[in-house]
Amino acid sequence: MAEDAILGYLASHEEIPDSGKFASQHGLQQNDVVNVIKSLHGFRYIDAQDIKRESWMLTDEGKKYAAEGSPEVQLFLAVPPEGFIAKDELQKKLDPSVFKIGCSQAGKNKWVDMGKQVSRKVQHVEDKVKDLLVRIQDGQTIDKDDINSLKARKLIVAQTWKGYSVRKGPNYASKRKKVATDLTRENLQRGDWKELEFKEYNFNAKGPLADAGHLHPLLKVKQQLKNIFLQMGFEEMPTNNFVESSFWNFDALFQPQQHPARDSHDTFFLEAPSTTRQLPEDYVELVKRVHESGGYGSRGYMYDWKREEANKNLLRTHTTAVSTRMLYALAKQPFAPKRYFSIDRVFRNESVDRTHLAEFHQIEGLVCDRGLTLGDLIGVLNDFFSRLGMSKLRFKPAYNPYTEPSMEIFSYHEGLKKWVEIGNSGMFRPEMLLPMGFPEDVRVIAWGLSLERPTMILYGIDNIRDLFGHKVDLSLIKRNPICRLGID
Ligand code: PHE
Repeated sequence: MAEDAILGYLASHEEIPDSGKFASQHGLQQNDVVNVIKSLHGFRYIDAQDIKRESWMLTDEGKKYAAEGSPEVQLFLAVPPEGFIAKDELQKKLDPSVFKIGCSQAGKNKWVDMGKQVSRKVQHVEDKVKDLLVRIQDGQTIDKDDINSLKARKLIVAQTWKGYSVRKGPNYASKRKKVATDLTRENLQRGDWKELEFKEYNFNAKGPLADAGHLHPLLKVKQQLKNIFLQMGFEEMPTNNFVESSFWNFDALFQPQQHPARDSHDTFFLEAPSTTRQLPEDYVELVKRVHESGGYGSRGYMYDWKREEANKNLLRTHTTAVSTRMLYALAKQPFAPKRYFSIDRVFRNESVDRTHLAEFHQIEGLVCDRGLTLGDLIGVLNDFFSRLGMSKLRFKPAYNPYTEPSMEIFSYHEGLKKWVEIGNSGMFRPEMLLPMGFPEDVRVIAWGLSLERPTMILYGIDNIRDLFGHKVDLSLIKRNPICRLGID
């Protein structure tokens, strides 16, 4: 509407001298007119010059007098027609500020005599102040002297009004032409591209930001942990197999076949391929024997060990399956001490809640050497966890089928002000190591923990579903701070 009005007016007039007046004459909103002027100017339909106008606006006090009359007139009218009144009587009739200002102005105007008695000196007065204020409100211009006196009484203030004067521009037309921003297939087919006017390129416009890859918090924490292990002289184990056989996941770890963890309520078994194709037969034989009847000073579990059970494929429930394969390979070589670690995904058939998913990442470390003791395990754990910023540790005896002794690891959480469980550890049993072929005095100390737990603590996330899985907010992936683990 404003656009038609402006372009239409310029068709028959040289100039719109004042956009403000133009708006009020044509019943348009000031804002609309200004926006249209800016846009038409951008496309050079019009030329626009800034203009400024000084105008006067009533203060709150001025607005009050414009409505109710000036205090001096209010005071004059409060003096009764007989012509006099006691000053304190008069004061009671008026608002305190009206009384105060009224007294001084009416006195100055010589309308009244002020004493104990206030008496009229004239019969009739005119409210010039109110009239002037009303005229300013109506946008009329008034005398310089009157302006000065109203300004001195703080009844009006100056305001600068900004607007435009407008003339035809080089691209003037009485109606804006739609410019095309794209050359489409339809334009080419119809041939109307010949008539189309195209929008000019803006070579200064910034292009959209190119999207790049982003690191998930789990990856950042994982990288820091890797660095810590590497600094401690550990080598990374290859963990690139989520599918594992029950043999490597359980049997080789001296975990009996009737152990509840081997139930399908706890473990995801594969339907296809449901069994492994290949196991090292000699070693399988030794594992079977140690389960059934022991050896190496052990009584074993004394049950009928079944090959079919060991053949079953599953999604590995812990990365200790990988550690087992690595130790088996190591035992085949002439003995050399080793430090191994891994950080990768494991799967458990668990019900999902705030802190559990059916898959998570396990961090695992192990040291293999002659004559290691529980003291070495405690020492390594203290070293490792203090590099993660957890230097107060406590250990609690625990049970794992494949370690003896076993210890749960607790760390004092300064924020929660309590001891929280952070991992599990132990010394691998001789029933596991000796069938592999290690010399008798070789010991393996090992520990494991989840990657999710420290990540949630470091990133202040209290629901695991906000960290991992389909409910994760993508903006968390795009914007998350660096991991400060191991950075001092
Ligand atoms: N595999 C154990 C777990 O699943 C962790 C662990 C690793 C415990 C090594 C002892 C030694 O929790």
